[in-house]
Amino acid sequence: MKTEDKTLIRALHGETLETPPIWLMRQAGRYLPEYRETRKTAENFLKFCYTPDLAVEVTLQPIRRYDFDASIMFCDILVIPDALGQDVAFREGEGPVLDPIRSVEALRKLNSGGVLDHLAPVFEVLRRLKVELPEDKTLIGFAGSPWTVAIYMIEGRGGTDGETARRWAYQEPETFSEIIDLLVDATIEYLNTQIENGAEVIQLFDSWSGLLAEEPFRRWVIEPTRRIIEGVRAKNVNTPIIGFPRGSGLMAPEFVRKTGVTGISLDANVPLEWARDNIQPLATVQGNLDNQLLVAGGDALDEAVLRIKKTLGGGPFIFNLGHGIVPQTPPENVARIVELIRQP
Ligand code: CP3
Repeated sequence: MKTEDKTLIRALHGETLETPPIWLMRQAGRYLPEYRETRKTAENFLKFCYTPDLAVEVTLQPIRRYDFDASIMFCDILVIPDALGQDVAFREGEGPVLDPIRSVEALRKLNSGGVLDHLAPVFEVLRRLKVELPEDKTLIGFAGSPWTVAIYMIEGRGGTDGETARRWAYQEPETFSEIIDLLVDATIEYLNTQIENGAEVIQLFDSWSGLLAEEPFRRWVIEPTRRIIEGVRAKNVNTPIIGFPRGSGLMAPEFVRKTGVTGISLDANVPLEWARDNIQPLATVQGNLDNQLLVAGGDALDEAVLRIKKTLGGGPFIFNLGHGIVPQTPPENVARIVELIRQP
């Protein structure tokens, strides 16, 4: 099947589909017993991402089980700091731990020269998926947005409010922009190479954009995203790009207009009718079921899924969650939402 005939691509090109395409952020993950089995065979999480046999296998698992319309390559946003030479580790029960960058000297020790070589296994994963995925599925590549990746690089771990990063950005915007610029350039190269190796859509994850006030949001979220999209379009003009500025609230319409994203992934806080009236006329919308409702299940889940489908399904729309699937999610609840979305 040609890329432009696939459901996800048609929705991103502005078509309103009778049955909206569905995929879920973190659709490969610990809620699936088969993922936990495969995960056991890797020494650590980064090696897991960099072993094509394993990464391809876990990417395909949710497609086999649920027949989603799209497949997101298995990897992580923190492979970029790893490829830049920062120490990155994932600890059991703790999440990512990085050797924090707290000075310009530390920042200038990072080296962007080897990013593509370091990430060669990721491109192999994409090439193999291109062959192994059922032909109607869209292959999604991704990266973290500079602001969100910078937070992890500076704080050195998750679970913060990005306070060190936000202070640095206010106190010394010139040196802070060095880290953002480095990430913009590395991300453009990384994404263009993903596309050359088979990615048909790109999603940019800005999980922590909601921490920023209005002006810094423009400077550290909108502007770097705009530059990345410009850099990707310069080489790959037709590849749709979905932005996920989580927590952007009332800044979302401006984000869409100024960055030029093709689609925007909405978090669960975004009111549906407001999104229909203010965002959907500008871009395809994706979202936005609360990931905890997917854990809870029952009638409340059914009602919320049908309300999202009804409110946003009258325009260009992709069903997804407001944030990634959590490990506590019962696999049968995922099957249920696929059934609800596909029933006439
Ligand atoms: O299926 C998919 O969506 C593709 C794979 C994917 C992962 N991470 C795998 C993963 C994607 C798209 C990501 C993106 C990602 N990674 C984001 C942006 C989206 C979001 O959730 O906000 C962020 C912030 C990260 C950084 C990250 N990676 C954290 C904070 C953690 C620890 C939290 C956790 O869930 O454990 C990770 C680890 C991680 N990345 C896991 C998976 C499946 C779990 C680790 C494991 O299985 O051992």
